[in-house]
Amino acid sequence: MNEPYEYMAAALYLGHPGIDAQHEILFVCYRELMHAVGGHGDGFELTDVISVIKSYVVTHFRYEEDAMQSTDYLDRDMHIAEHRRLEKGLLSLSERYENETDKNAVAIDMAGFLKEWLSHHIAVVDRLLAQHLNSLNYT
Ligand SMILES: [Fe+2]
Repeated sequence: MNEPYEYMAAALYLGHPGIDAQHEILFVCYRELMHAVGGHGDGFELTDVISVIKSYVVTHFRYEEDAMQSTDYLDRDMHIAEHRRLEKGLLSLSERYENETDKNAVAIDMAGFLKEWLSHHIAVVDRLLAQHLNSLNYT
């Protein structure tokens, strides 16, 4: 029997509905990645979960970056630079996943990387963006 999904920690809800909903999806991806390790997923293969993560991260970053652009967000360059760093880290893990035989070990590294950056980036960098967007009623 599957245990219930835990999405995000309560402290990571930023009060911006669009951004919170997208972050929840990223945490669901994290959970699915962990579930798929060792072939014990709910029907999702590891390779599929990784491909969903890579593509959803791009969609989510584009949403935030469009919002920053449309509202002349002052910390935009710093925030976008962090997105690029995160994408680069994910890409290099995904290349390792392609090339290494121990897929589970790379997937576990990827899950750790994802959780670590999600937690830090949301708590610190996205929090400032959500405050800015909320102050303008930007949804
Ligand atoms: Fe962000």
